[in-house]
Amino acid sequence: MTTFNHIETTLVQMGNRSDPRTGAVSTPIILSTAYGRDGLGESTGFDYTRTKNPTRAVLEQGIADLEGGDAGFALSSGMAAIQLIMSLFKAPDEWLVSSDVYGGTYRLLDFCYKNNHILKPVYVNTADLNAIEQAITPNTKAIFIETPSNPLMEECDVAAISALAKKHNLLVIVDNTFLTPVLFRPIEHGADIVVHSATKYLSGHNDVLAGLVVAKGQSLCERLYYLQNGVGAVLSPFDSFLAIRGLKTLALRMERHQANATEIAQFLREQPEIDSVLYSGKSGMLSFRLKKEEWVAPFLKAIKLITFAESLGGTESFITYPSTQTHMDIPEAERIARGITNNLLRFSVGIEHIDDLKADLRQAFAQLK
Ligand SMILES: Cc1ncc(COP(=O)(O)O)c(C=O)c1O
Repeated sequence: MTTFNHIETTLVQMGNRSDPRTGAVSTPIILSTAYGRDGLGESTGFDYTRTKNPTRAVLEQGIADLEGGDAGFALSSGMAAIQLIMSLFKAPDEWLVSSDVYGGTYRLLDFCYKNNHILKPVYVNTADLNAIEQAITPNTKAIFIETPSNPLMEECDVAAISALAKKHNLLVIVDNTFLTPVLFRPIEHGADIVVHSATKYLSGHNDVLAGLVVAKGQSLCERLYYLQNGVGAVLSPFDSFLAIRGLKTLALRMERHQANATEIAQFLREQPEIDSVLYSGKSGMLSFRLKKEEWVAPFLKAIKLITFAESLGGTESFITYPSTQTHMDIPEAERIARGITNNLLRFSVGIEHIDDLKADLRQAFAQLK
């Protein structure tokens, strides 16, 4: 793929005329699982679709270019992408993990550590460089960061963490789901691996489950490719096409998500029913606490335009209740100690008209009296 001076252009041009035979502007969906060879030792570059598929290859090259990495890998979900990265490690390796992390990541790390002992997650406040340095042991092999974190929207300094990691020979892995390469490119700040739930902003329309990994460095890319092909949790050609189509409008969507979220954060701060608003000022993701826990159920019943649902990053606005949805697998006492209290709601602000979003919130708050 070609990259351009501006990410907006690179996004829009992804996959354009990727099929030289037809000049198709939209990336063709190639469903064939097998590819013929003209003779022994000859190949078109495609042999078997788990190993390489032409539609998936456009997406993989595209995300590698967008993130500034050497290779991209498309998988069947964000969790499959995280699991692929975990497969690079073995006991007694340890990861330092942001203490506020997506509940599914916590669940997988916890299960794999307790059952297979492959990798020990050690939770640390990644916003605190001293805390990170103190948590490093001879077994620490990587630092896994979410910034801003899910759902508390805490930010950390990827460049400073990467500098520290280099000193200790650790890999830096960043889950860039919330910011996307439009707002932040972790590899430019020293990260080694970037992972995405492409189900969210990248695909953007709540109709694709997908994960993407981008890595820097030949040896890392080769090992990830070996495992991706070996395990085979690859993204289907149709879903690869949908992700490419979604990416074309990513820059426009992020602009509107962020503008709407900025206004909604301000609006929420002015409402008497709100205890606090957590917003990094970036993307469309924010969280807020209602003054009373018993308002959560009636509020979620009262919203009409905004959907009470468990995902984020799509064009439609979603409100999620982390306590019983995304973060339900964290034991309650630990969850509350981490700040994921029972009055906390996460808001993925969509790209609807801001006045309609405010009107929906206003009428929902009015029902709490
Ligand atoms: C930050 C983050 N990372 C990873 C994932 C997992 O992605 P998926 O649902 O595509 O498996 C999610 C899902 O919500 C997420 O929010």
